[in-house]
Amino acid sequence: MTNLLIRTSYSFNIFKHCYSTAAKSVASIRINNEDYGTDDYTNVTPKILSYLNRNLHLQKGHPLSLVRQRIVNYFYSSFTHGGNPSFSVYDNLKPIVSTKQNFDDLLIPEDHVSRAKSDCYYVNKSLLLRAHMTAHQSELLRAGLDNFLMIGDVYRRDEIDSTHFPVFHQVDAVRSQRKEQLFENHQGLEIFEKHFLDQSQSFKNSINDPTKQSCHTLEATKLMENQLKNHLLGLVKVLFGDNIKHRWVDAYFPFTHPSWEMEIFYEDKWMEVLGCGIVRNEILMNAGPNNSIAYAFGLGLERLVMALYKIPDIRLMWSTDSGFLTQFENKDINADITYKPVSSYPQCVNDLSFWLPNELTIDTFMSNDFYDLVRDVGGDIIEQVKLKDKFVHPKTKKQSLCYSIVYRHLERTLTQAEVNQIHKEIEKAAVQSFGVVIR
Ligand code: DAH
Repeated sequence: MTNLLIRTSYSFNIFKHCYSTAAKSVASIRINNEDYGTDDYTNVTPKILSYLNRNLHLQKGHPLSLVRQRIVNYFYSSFTHGGNPSFSVYDNLKPIVSTKQNFDDLLIPEDHVSRAKSDCYYVNKSLLLRAHMTAHQSELLRAGLDNFLMIGDVYRRDEIDSTHFPVFHQVDAVRSQRKEQLFENHQGLEIFEKHFLDQSQSFKNSINDPTKQSCHTLEATKLMENQLKNHLLGLVKVLFGDNIKHRWVDAYFPFTHPSWEMEIFYEDKWMEVLGCGIVRNEILMNAGPNNSIAYAFGLGLERLVMALYKIPDIRLMWSTDSGFLTQFENKDINADITYKPVSSYPQCVNDLSFWLPNELTIDTFMSNDFYDLVRDVGGDIIEQVKLKDKFVHPKTKKQSLCYSIVYRHLERTLTQAEVNQIHKEIEKAAVQSFGVVIR
């Protein structure tokens, strides 16, 4: 309950700030020329909404766009049908989706952590900024598509550092096949178990067996797994070269079974680059096709792009500085590019310590709320926010937290005086929004 109150007052403070409307009277927000009702779920901030139409993945010469094109080309060339690509590409789907699209259609349980207000940007109780591109899977299946790519911006509340940003880009895909295609060279094999075909109305699909869904035959699952893994391995080889080291890790996603993650070995460590699996048959049946099996995957574009071009900080993706952009503009999409830092300006680190109000504890204080506030006030000069210290006063039992805020401008040197001023504003906003007392 406490958190709910905090979130509400926090978002309303922000809206008051942005729209100079009376705090509690904001009943709707305007996003892309449409009005949306707000409620106690609303936690999108003006700062986040400002990213909505940037479409970096479509911006000519942007590194995200170069890699998007390479991935699309790989798909087009891997699967052609009579000379035409048999994959369709959707890279302009609207980022506001319903909770049904983002969660329910994908069998994500009602109480799953990924639905939490602390993890998503909600427009209101039933609409949010999509947290993954998989949110569009069911609607495209329902429209009758069987092979497609969905590419776009996704939104997640998260910590702040050089690899995390609340907006990033994903490529998500589905490839479905019917019996005749899948078993082209193995006539007589079936996708579905006999007892599923016999009682398809009442059959309850289960995922208790780690190797397959109960409705599918082992042959169909294994053949799909093999194609899926080869297909994705081909993709990372096209991007990183034949010598790239990779490994498969068993995973769990509510919408696929079995599921895997692929990791590649990059700069002395394993880095997770994608999730994938065999689409749960319930999803296909609910959306229409009941005679095919599909595999799906989702990958994060920023990770691949940063590794490929050696871009050290995710905030650079949003840079409008020509020193950054010209390194990628007018280049062949397959060009071998290594990002050269324009220059590295110094960091300023200021600590912020505060006492929590009585109704909050170190464990119930929502760090993500604090991160959003810091970002709203400080903007893109916030490089990192990390929890430095927790403290409980031995006598009064009052609890306090200390965060280190790292400031760095990507394109110039910040003066300590200007950092101090922004730091003061963050303190003020924290006092107002969370009722904390600065130490
Ligand atoms: N949507 C998942 C995420 O954002 C990634 C993912 C995993 C997508 C498996 C898929 C899939 O399509 O089949 O973490």
